Amino acid sequence: MTQILINAKAKLRMSLSKTVNYILSSQRATIISYNDKYRRDIFDRLNRIGKETDLLLCPSEAYTIFMAVKATEKIKGDLAEVGIYKGGSSRIICEAKGLRTLHLFDTFEGIPEVSSIDSRQFFAGQYAGTFDEVKENLKNYENVYLYKGVFPTTSDPIKNKRFSFVHFDVDTYLSTKECLNFFYERMSKGGIMISHDYNGAEGVRRAFQEFFTDKPEHIIEIANSQCMILKF
Ligand SMILES: C[S@@+](CC[C@H](N)C(=O)[O-])C[C@H]1O[C@@H](n2cnc3c(N)ncnc32)[C@H](O)[C@@H]1O
Repeated sequence: MTQILINAKAKLRMSLSKTVNYILSSQRATIISYNDKYRRDIFDRLNRIGKETDLLLCPSEAYTIFMAVKATEKIKGDLAEVGIYKGGSSRIICEAKGLRTLHLFDTFEGIPEVSSIDSRQFFAGQYAGTFDEVKENLKNYENVYLYKGVFPTTSDPIKNKRFSFVHFDVDTYLSTKECLNFFYERMSKGGIMISHDYNGAEGVRRAFQEFFTDKPEHIIEIANSQCMILKF
């Protein structure tokens, strides 16, 4: 009896998501379902963090970061993020990183500058988080270091390190270019770089496309706004 009910529920869920996807397809949109227990538990965990931290990523983007951090478990090197705002995405990384070291960079005064390449939705001073709020949001995790200032002027303490995972969420052309210039050569083989807003922020897309023109790695576009690089 219980098995019949479980099967009926699964069928109902499947036909519901098919119907919603059919309706959304006219808007070139889709929903992603996290149906099995393993994925549902992770989704719930990340969703709770999102609500607690004012996270600016959508659930599937948070899920991608979580899984990518897990996937780099055996790769040598530290982790880093540039563009942390209130620490929402940093906490997603923390949930997956175990005891590995994470370096976090932000101005805590918002976006430092925008150029004519950048989408008009961004402006200097936007997304100013506070240092203390981020510290509070991340207080339960070990081996996490915060650096305040415009990256890469704050990069000195990590200039001799290697990296297994880095996340950029800096919104603009200049900041994305600086992040790529700094981290690319410091990524371990098999390490992963993810950026938010590859789709949706012209400056971010342009910075990636220019930077990887003469590199062997591919820019992998992911559903929603992110892109991913797997270092060769
Ligand atoms: C969209 S917010 C980050 C959101 C955060 N990742 C989240 O998901 O909740 C962008 C952040 O990038 C930071 N930022 C942009 N360019 C930067 C740079 N060159 N150095 C340091 N921080 C930068 C801004 O201060 C802002 O906090």
